[in-house]
Amino acid sequence: MIEHVVKYQHHFPHPKINSNSIKFFLDKSLENIIIGKNNLILYMIKEENKIFTNLLGNQSPDINSSKARGDWKDTANFLEKGPEWLIEQVKASGLRGRGGAGFATGLKWSFAPKKVEKPHYLVINADESEPGTCKDRDIIRYEPHKLLEGIIYGCRAINSHCCYIYIRGEYYNESVALQNAIDEAYDAKLIGKDSTLGWDVDIHIHRGAGAYICGEETALLESIEGNKGQPRLKPPFPALVGLYGCPTIVNNVESVAVVPTILRRGAGWFASIGPKNNTGTKIFCVSGHVNNPCNIEEEMGIPLKKLIDEYCGGVIGGWDNLLAVIPGGSSVPLIPKDICDNITLDFDSLKAVGSGLGTAGIIVMNKSTDIIEAIARLSHFYKHESCGQCTPCREGTGWLERIMYRFVRGDAKVEEIDKLYDLTKQIEGHTICALGDAAAWPIQGLIKHFRGEIEKRINNYHLNN
Ligand SMILES: Cc1cc2nc3c(=O)[nH]c(=O)nc-3n(C[C@H](O)[C@H](O)[C@H](O)COP(=O)(O)O)c2cc1C
Ligand code: SF4
Repeated sequence: MIEHVVKYQHHFPHPKINSNSIKFFLDKSLENIIIGKNNLILYMIKEENKIFTNLLGNQSPDINSSKARGDWKDTANFLEKGPEWLIEQVKASGLRGRGGAGFATGLKWSFAPKKVEKPHYLVINADESEPGTCKDRDIIRYEPHKLLEGIIYGCRAINSHCCYIYIRGEYYNESVALQNAIDEAYDAKLIGKDSTLGWDVDIHIHRGAGAYICGEETALLESIEGNKGQPRLKPPFPALVGLYGCPTIVNNVESVAVVPTILRRGAGWFASIGPKNNTGTKIFCVSGHVNNPCNIEEEMGIPLKKLIDEYCGGVIGGWDNLLAVIPGGSSVPLIPKDICDNITLDFDSLKAVGSGLGTAGIIVMNKSTDIIEAIARLSHFYKHESCGQCTPCREGTGWLERIMYRFVRGDAKVEEIDKLYDLTKQIEGHTICALGDAAAWPIQGLIKHFRGEIEKRINNYHLNN
């Protein structure tokens, strides 16, 4: 056990964990709770519950090291059990998609037609352009064989022999690492024709050109087809009419990379971790005003404060210096400190406070932040990334940006705060894809929690001008 703690310390050196707390830990023989000197309870995931045991890249990502970590074990046996069994296991695990929307992965797989009349495709979304999010990158760099093995199960489940991995163009080194892993799997006859596993799958990497909108699943399909990356009207959904007009399931990297471990350890094991309907472990990406920004695999439902204090060395300037957190990548509404004090990190808890888990890209802002300018910067991003197909998004994101930058200066009327809010409401839900919502929500969060700050800025401007 001491080894476990020391290893943990090695990865995340933390002043609160010292020899006294380790002794206390041993005395109590608690496996997943360390009690620090000041009686702070430090929850942490049990080491054996971690799926991504090489998330920090301490070991080699190559096929032999991956096999030594448990990858590609019993794969042929699981495949032999057939698509219904695979889908049932994933459904029973409660796995919800890790790409942002939290849609049930097993249910999505079940939408692929059972009768195979055309080729079926599995497409892996490795676009990872959501600001604050960098988890898929570490899976690809350090645990690529988990993704590849998961792809074989996904393909079997939806009766597909072909998978495309769509990776953002900026991830050049990652695409090279991924291709190395694919080559290794071909050489080992785990993928490709006459696979030793009994289900042939070809895997192709498609590099994007760096547009955020190509992360939206139908824009992504357009982009693979060689077209402009613009979202499609739905229905029809990709499960029926997707890539090249054929049934296609699009899944995030993390959603698929956790499947092999779910099958090996059992759906019940995954379902036993985290709150009801929010099961399993999750990679959280913490950035911004923390002492140690990092990616952490933890249990769903971990309190935000514990995550920041125990893994990230705390907020810069201390917890009381916290202003707000954007908990799910830039698209979700921020939550102010008083909510952060007690919030737990899972889909439903964050939805209940008017925000969302999204991609679990946690952007921490302390009191040195100009919160109006921070949100204005996001408005600039969404305006820049709008594909321009629908009027509320194309025109609206520009209006949002222009008004937000006037608010940054204070050069506005207080009544315009409500006008801006109305504008976000006219964009939200009125567009082809969710980029419109993503542009609206950060501003709605700002107005809800920091209206006073905007008013103060406007009043000061008029006093001085
Ligand atoms: C503007 C926009 C950008 C998106 N970017 C990504 C992305 O980079 N990666 C991703 O996995 N999903 C992204 N999504 C969500 C995808 O459309 C899709 O829901 C997801 O890939 C499904 O995978 P999952 O069910 O495994 O979560 C984006 C959605 C929108 C609207
Ligand atoms: S909401 Fe914006 S990004 Fe999405 S399709 Fe419409 S214009 Fe394009």
